[in-house]
Amino acid sequence: MSSLNILFVGDVFGSSGRAVLAKMLPEIKCAYGVDICIVNGENASHGRGLSMRSADEIYLAGADCITMGNHTWNNNEIYRYIDDYRIVRPANFASSLPGRGDILLECGQYPVGVVNVQGRVYMDPCDNPFEAAYEAVSRLRERTSVIIVDFHAEASAEKAAMAFYLDGLVTAVVGTHTHVQTADEKILPGGTAFITDVGMTGPEDSVIGMDKGAVINKFVRCVPERFSPADGAGSLNAVLITADTQTGRAENIVRIRL
Ligand SMILES: [Fe+2]
Repeated sequence: MSSLNILFVGDVFGSSGRAVLAKMLPEIKCAYGVDICIVNGENASHGRGLSMRSADEIYLAGADCITMGNHTWNNNEIYRYIDDYRIVRPANFASSLPGRGDILLECGQYPVGVVNVQGRVYMDPCDNPFEAAYEAVSRLRERTSVIIVDFHAEASAEKAAMAFYLDGLVTAVVGTHTHVQTADEKILPGGTAFITDVGMTGPEDSVIGMDKGAVINKFVRCVPERFSPADGAGSLNAVLITADTQTGRAENIVRIRL
């Protein structure tokens, strides 16, 4: 029996997030024997969207694939390059949009499928994430049993429902978007690893990545504010999933917070 170590790094936020990723990812990959690394990058450029330069930085740090979310289209550059990079945006967006909702990565002799879907609870309108995920997973399972689903969603109930819906069909369902790591990592009865949210890779001294002052002023005084990414030292939040390459079942899921 052989296994794969798959590292999933939570939402990289702004320059602080990119800096901490560049600094820590090579060490983490070495320390944990990572075979493949997936990074959520929808907040990597100034907290919203992903420029080509930021994508290049993420790949240079050691990522194999970048997943996205509700901020996929916030940086206009992405329309030009999304089809040429290993970027996976939510599968349940309008079918006329560029990009793809799933990808098959080659990792030696073991292909790894990656799917990205966006939730609908407290999120902008999008198509049914459950049907979109099931369709992508069914297609990928003809090629591999090792599949990671990034469910970019706000509501913990929607994320848990997705995990149980796909239990036994995928290696892991990992939640992103809230920027706060949850301590509920587990392996479900069918062998699918799950965590409600991986957490953010970005500035610690912030309100989920943004400068505190403007956010506090908006909440306290109820006035419009322009948010900017916070500066300062960042933390890296991730999960390491060990997958059985034959069955696709998760053998282990470990939280990382550095
Ligand atoms: Fe998001």
